[in-house]
Amino acid sequence: MKKSLFVAVFLVSFFITDAQRTAAISVIPQPVSLVRGAGYFTLPGNGVIIAAKNEEVKRMATDLAAKLSKGLNKITVKEGTAVQPKSISLLLVNDKSIRKDGYRLKVTTGGVSLSANEPSGIFYGIQTLLQLFPTLVERKADVMVDDKWVLPVVTIEDHPRFGWRGLMLDVSRHFFTVAQVKDYIDQMVKYKFNLLHLHLTDDQGWRIQIKSLPKLTEVGAWRVERTGTFGTLSKPEAGEAATYGGFYTQEDIKELVKYATDRFVNILPEIDVPGHSLAAIAAYPELSCTPGEYYVSPGDRFMVWPGGGQHFYGLIDNTLCPANEKVYEFMEKVFTEVAQLFPFEYIHMGGDETARNFWEKTDAIKAMMQKENLKNLDEVQSYFVKRMEKIINSKGKKMIGWDEILDGGLAPNAAVMSWRGMKGGIEAARQGHEVVMSPTDFAYIDYMQGDAAIEPPVYATLRLKKAYQFDPLPEGIDASLVKGGQANLWTEQVYNTRHLQYMTWPRGFAIAEALWSPKEKRDWNDFAKRTEQHFARLTAAEVKYAPSIYDPIVEVSKKDTATIIIKLSTEIEGLSIHYSFDNSFPDQYYPKYNAPLTVPKDAAAIKMITYRDNQPTGRMIIIPIAELRKRAGIK
Ligand code: ACM
Repeated sequence: MKKSLFVAVFLVSFFITDAQRTAAISVIPQPVSLVRGAGYFTLPGNGVIIAAKNEEVKRMATDLAAKLSKGLNKITVKEGTAVQPKSISLLLVNDKSIRKDGYRLKVTTGGVSLSANEPSGIFYGIQTLLQLFPTLVERKADVMVDDKWVLPVVTIEDHPRFGWRGLMLDVSRHFFTVAQVKDYIDQMVKYKFNLLHLHLTDDQGWRIQIKSLPKLTEVGAWRVERTGTFGTLSKPEAGEAATYGGFYTQEDIKELVKYATDRFVNILPEIDVPGHSLAAIAAYPELSCTPGEYYVSPGDRFMVWPGGGQHFYGLIDNTLCPANEKVYEFMEKVFTEVAQLFPFEYIHMGGDETARNFWEKTDAIKAMMQKENLKNLDEVQSYFVKRMEKIINSKGKKMIGWDEILDGGLAPNAAVMSWRGMKGGIEAARQGHEVVMSPTDFAYIDYMQGDAAIEPPVYATLRLKKAYQFDPLPEGIDASLVKGGQANLWTEQVYNTRHLQYMTWPRGFAIAEALWSPKEKRDWNDFAKRTEQHFARLTAAEVKYAPSIYDPIVEVSKKDTATIIIKLSTEIEGLSIHYSFDNSFPDQYYPKYNAPLTVPKDAAAIKMITYRDNQPTGRMIIIPIAELRKRAGIK
């Protein structure tokens, strides 16, 4: 093929269509105010970005120019203090009507102006601006496009509802490299998250170098390799090499912190103690109340939750011993180095799910209870937590912990991260403490997002629609104490970054909107439409997402002792559900669900799929009738 023809073919195939240009504006999170005007602005292929005289703004302008310089476009950056025609102007202003971290973005037929009082506002405004560009802007690979970008005329005024807009990433259960964490930061900032909580330590791995305690990473960062369902994996065999794991060196942490800071993201480090500490104990067994040999857990079952509820006990003692002074010397060393590495004002000390069944049997704990006048094991844990706070405060940092730190009495200055619902947060605020909301009911993005028949198995479900109902500010609590909220991604069942993405998106959209947008702007149907537009953006950016909103919701009940009733619905509007009981695969010509179903005699399974406009939208879901009987409680 001749070169000119080759170029022409690509030009045609990547030409931005009119449909793309005129697609509805879909910004996530929804801005405070967005007014669409008539017409479009065309940025010339050799267009210019004007950047305020500020190093951060210039860096952002350069990044934006790189993103827009695809194919034949070559966008350049010039310093300037006033709007210039036919350009994108990023201007720092002194305007009291723009709130903290807020911005004003105006696209007219003559150009784009983005103004903010601080560089952070410019950064958030750029994220919005990028969402006004065609999806193509998200493509990683360079592509041939026509030599201009077209933007809709619009005026947007915007600022965040909360200052703490977080995602928690568990890098202990599965390790993610510096490059992978940076990639996660790149994804989260597009949706205006500004806090990355790194869960750095747990039973399955210690992931941060502590120079004064080298065994934490020599031993604690490595485990025998297993693949499958966490909690059922086999224990290490005698002499088996610990080959799975990894950790961040202190240089890695500095690199991550710099990368995050450049994108207006704080990193909150979590060192989870006194429970969840098996990796630390494998390195330093003398920190346990229960002497012995320990291993870093590969995902075996060593904690037991009888009945699946909140109560549990350990088959192995995975706790640091609060009655051992060596533990406090250890924590002093850990927090000294952690405090030096992370500029963020908080350190998270965990505090969740501490099994006390070994403490109960420990003479040193009993002696400590007498000496310190501690009435029960809650007070023992509270004693430990208060000492953690003293150490953390002595490093110039504030302490935050999971809501169990309320048990036995809260440390005097502690902030509480409420996960077992919002009641812990409400109680902490009542006591005058700062609060971050991350309740399981709305913000646990390790849970399944659709039917268990199709999702990778986890013990609970959180659908997008439910996540969208997250409101971190319950009625009747002092709003000034609620710093915001976050979604938590525990990674027991997340083995790789593709699945990390699948679990985060689109629920991350819902959490972002809950934390950034005005509450009165919430509109599920509108959000669902915007979510679909953003699926296309994720695809362009090569980021995986869960398509679970397209699958039917299956509710099963029983009419009498033997009859199953199947009720089907969808999370989003406009889908039809088609089903079969005869083992064949349904399509849009199969029966369409419109009323609760009973199972035909002897049927083996129900198969279901959703359609829209004659196109399959959801995945084929197959549920054996035996499973439905179980769900309905029929023996
Ligand atoms: C937690 O989910 N254990 C904080």
